[in-house]
Amino acid sequence: MATATPAQGAASTAPTKAQAVEVSAVSRREFLYYIWGASIVLLLGEVGAATIWYALPRFREGEFGGTFRYTPSDVVPAAGEAPITVPAGRFHIAHMADGGLVVLYQVCTHLGCLPKWEPVNTRFACPCHGSQYHLDGRWITGPAPRGLDRFPLTVVLHNGETRSNGVDGWPIDISDITLDDIAQIVVDTGARVTGPAHGAEARFTGSA
Ligand code: FES
Repeated sequence: MATATPAQGAASTAPTKAQAVEVSAVSRREFLYYIWGASIVLLLGEVGAATIWYALPRFREGEFGGTFRYTPSDVVPAAGEAPITVPAGRFHIAHMADGGLVVLYQVCTHLGCLPKWEPVNTRFACPCHGSQYHLDGRWITGPAPRGLDRFPLTVVLHNGETRSNGVDGWPIDISDITLDDIAQIVVDTGARVTGPAHGAEARFTGSA
């Protein structure tokens, strides 16, 4: 009976050169697949993280740059009375005698000082270079290039109605309601609106 020689046995079990080359080529391809897959996962992870980062509010509620919510009795003065200043939000809430309600950025539009309300003269006056502003923030006199900047305001009524000046920033008309009709005052300090130009007329905006 013929038996295989050691040389013949080795030849039958060892991979041929062609087989070795084929195995090596598959492994490289798999390796490239892994790299490609890892790159895709990494890219998706970065996109997801960026999306979440942009979706989250930058500022917490109640800190400057974020949203402030109040019951009207806390922050809304009687019509025609001195404005109420909210230092944490860096704004004044002004309620005009004709029923307009507006939120004014505290900072002077000239060089950034803080105008103060002068009850005697019924106007804001800047201590630095003398700019003056009406109760609704419109410019009166001085080097300031425009009226006081504003923040978007939303008034939420108990009956579900909302009144907002959105990106406009002009006073909201609440002359037809009382403060008791208002459930909430919402101020967005993250969307400052440029103050009105010299000579701008007083006006209401954005009811309902
Ligand atoms: S900073 Fe207010 S007038 Fe100059």
